[in-house]
Amino acid sequence: MSKRFQLRDALAEFPPYVPGKPPVASPGLTPYKLSSNENHLPPLPGVVESAASASAIPGNYPDPTAAALVADIASHLDVEPAEVVPGAGASEVLTALTNITLEAGTSVVYPWPSFEMYPILASARGAEKRPVDLLEDGRHDFAGLAAAIDDTTRLVLLCSPNNPTGPTITDAELEGFLAEVPESVIVVLDEAYLEFATEAADSLAARAKHPNLVLARTFSKAHGLAGLRVGYGIADAEIASAMRQVIAPFSVTAGAQAAARESLARVDEVAVRAKEVAAVRDRFAHDLRELGLSVPDAQGNYVWIALDPEAAVAFEGECAKQAVAVRRLQGGVRVSIGPDEALERVLKVAASL
Ligand SMILES: Cc1ncc(COP(=O)(O)O)c(C=O)c1O
Repeated sequence: MSKRFQLRDALAEFPPYVPGKPPVASPGLTPYKLSSNENHLPPLPGVVESAASASAIPGNYPDPTAAALVADIASHLDVEPAEVVPGAGASEVLTALTNITLEAGTSVVYPWPSFEMYPILASARGAEKRPVDLLEDGRHDFAGLAAAIDDTTRLVLLCSPNNPTGPTITDAELEGFLAEVPESVIVVLDEAYLEFATEAADSLAARAKHPNLVLARTFSKAHGLAGLRVGYGIADAEIASAMRQVIAPFSVTAGAQAAARESLARVDEVAVRAKEVAAVRDRFAHDLRELGLSVPDAQGNYVWIALDPEAAVAFEGECAKQAVAVRRLQGGVRVSIGPDEALERVLKVAASL
């Protein structure tokens, strides 16, 4: 690596973030991108229009506190506005949480495989990474996670539904784990895909008992607003205040704030759409299992197919020939729920292999 500039040595240790590939064009086939867990359904009618009208004067900065959006989220979830921290996607919320907790000499515990940003954020802070292997069925190993915590641990990341494997964390798992974690250690529950889950822990209730529990949520997935970049954290006011200290001012644009408010105002319709996606997911997971594939409980807008590395490469390659991009990761392939035609092509590939 070139040494012309005084960059941190730690950069050499960063695991790369590999974004989902775009589909490869194939003559006569509509291409589909099922590699980034995007919502293939459009946002609710009116949401894009509200973003456009709020962006009408791009020369002006947005409200730096996103006060109206914060008030809406607080009233929707029955929490205090002081406990709501908006950010440019859940990604910025997670970044803020690592920025306020991690530095050299500290450690962060998280399940693995899980969201690929976790080790990147830990590396960015120079903290020790403590990934804990998932159980065979793609669920968190809570005994292993608890055992990995010591007095250097400042942060624990949990993911429900877990990306990429799919299962959610139950009430009993969450409560049992939080009872074991020191109260001064922040535990983040990343709920980016919560709205697609048929069953998941009541995390808001758990927060009431455990102020060290922080929730990370997003408008990117069920609300279909990934391109606008808006998410939020729900945290104890002391933690929330520290997060606001490190988040870049104005990071949530006026258009994103307006779109999120409009979509949240009709959250019941968002829930109906999420259920539609979940129904397709359940059918797709069932069909893949019928073909003999190993598919853990799928609760997000994606399905995980556990495959050995060679089979995963073949699966990804055959899908690419069908103009469908899927995501190959350590241990298998993740397929986002998309239009029926795209999923049918993936099923054909699965049957042929
Ligand atoms: C588990 C998980 N958390 C957080 C995010 C970040 O989402 P965003 O920054 O778009 O809100 C993602 C995105 O794919 C994710 O999969």
